[in-house]
Amino acid sequence: MERKTFTMEELVAYCSQYGFIYQGSEIYGGLANTWDYGPLGTGLKNQIKDAWRYYFIQMRENSYEVDADILMNPKVWEASGHLAGFTDPLLDCKECKTRHRADNLIQEYDSSVNADAFTQEEMLQFIRSKQVPCPVCGKSNFTDIRQFNLMFETRRGVTSDNAGTIYLRPENAQGEYVNYLNVLRSMRAKLPFSIGQIGKAFRNEITPKNFTFRTIEFEQMEYQTFCKEGTDNDLYEYFKEYGKEFFEYLGLPAEKLRFHDHEKLAHYAKAACDIEYLFPFGWGEINGTHNRTDFDLSRHQEYSGKSMEYFDESTREKYIPYVIESTYGVDRIVLAILFEGLCEEELGEGESRIVFKVKPALAPIKVNVLPLIKKRHAEEAKKLYKELSSHFMVQYDESGSIGKRYRRGDAIGVPFAVTIDDNTLENGTVTVRDRDSMEQKEIALTDLVHYLHDNL
Ligand code: GAP
Repeated sequence: MERKTFTMEELVAYCSQYGFIYQGSEIYGGLANTWDYGPLGTGLKNQIKDAWRYYFIQMRENSYEVDADILMNPKVWEASGHLAGFTDPLLDCKECKTRHRADNLIQEYDSSVNADAFTQEEMLQFIRSKQVPCPVCGKSNFTDIRQFNLMFETRRGVTSDNAGTIYLRPENAQGEYVNYLNVLRSMRAKLPFSIGQIGKAFRNEITPKNFTFRTIEFEQMEYQTFCKEGTDNDLYEYFKEYGKEFFEYLGLPAEKLRFHDHEKLAHYAKAACDIEYLFPFGWGEINGTHNRTDFDLSRHQEYSGKSMEYFDESTREKYIPYVIESTYGVDRIVLAILFEGLCEEELGEGESRIVFKVKPALAPIKVNVLPLIKKRHAEEAKKLYKELSSHFMVQYDESGSIGKRYRRGDAIGVPFAVTIDDNTLENGTVTVRDRDSMEQKEIALTDLVHYLHDNL
């Protein structure tokens, strides 16, 4: 069967048409690079978050989920190093007054160069010597490079001076670190143990791009494993592989995933490796594994004055644990799953269908309930819809031909369509159609819930 995948433009249009993702604040002309998830996008996101909870919190021993506030004491960001070091190298075009990231300019000018490994001076020298053009006006007349902090500031209280400045968190991780002692105490945890969290993070990215891939507000699923120094390298390798397994479990194929070791490390890391997925616009990071050593906890000990030491009963030693971080961007995973599953399939005789072949467990709607003929079968179908609703996310659709209704379900990834017809009224059976194979089966109503559970 011929299968055509979606381009970025087609995906953006699809997401809006079918209720996955809309432009943020659309009726006001939008706010650049903000996106709102519609009912189906929210459903898909929730399934991904549930899968993460299953894989990381439920299936792993000594794993605890927290939900820390986005707004934290500003000292957290001093201690974490984000106030001083969480910056992007930016420069302005003197001709058209647009602002750019120096590393992006270089990368776009020559993709064989690794701008990540350049110092600020090397970047400027490269841009000047090669006369790298401004992507907006084409001229090459830039200011010097300056470091801009990526954290969004806001103000609490009524003071207008800087005393009330607080920040929207740029990563979830700090919410896990500042609660390390609380979880240790209240859950009577023992090393190694992990704290995970799902939540929003914010970064003042000046060059957001590729739809939801790089935005100013996004959601992370972060997971910190506290361990003894010396066990950190093995855990680091373990979480790299566990991440790949998780993505395959979500339905992303191994051949479109690769590891990318970082040469230039964030201020907190001793080693860092991303997993990248092959998007239509190229390889893009969807996860990171970081060996953060005892950097964060040591800094919090220093800045808060609270001891972060762990007392190891078996060896009678006291030490600050090391942390292996495994972090996932929810929005990027949604994007990868949409690109992976969506296609237009030729069905022969000039017919085609849009189908979203998402893993059934992740489908936002699991079952479409369809009366074959509205007048004759709607009553029975509505009864079934009600009954199935207590088990699954179900949709009822009675308008248009049965073929059209199948197509609408395929396009949003509904794994099963259940049709109620005369056989249902006479023999108590329904027709169950499989989204991917389009094969149909007669199933007794009494077996239906079982059958759907088994296949979802
Ligand atoms: N706590 C470590 C940390 O935040 P990161 O690599 O900067 O590490 C983790 O971010 C994940 O968050 C990335 O792998 C990516 O999936 C997602 N992410 C980061 N910046 C993003 C942005 N501007 N838009 C969307 N997702 C982003």
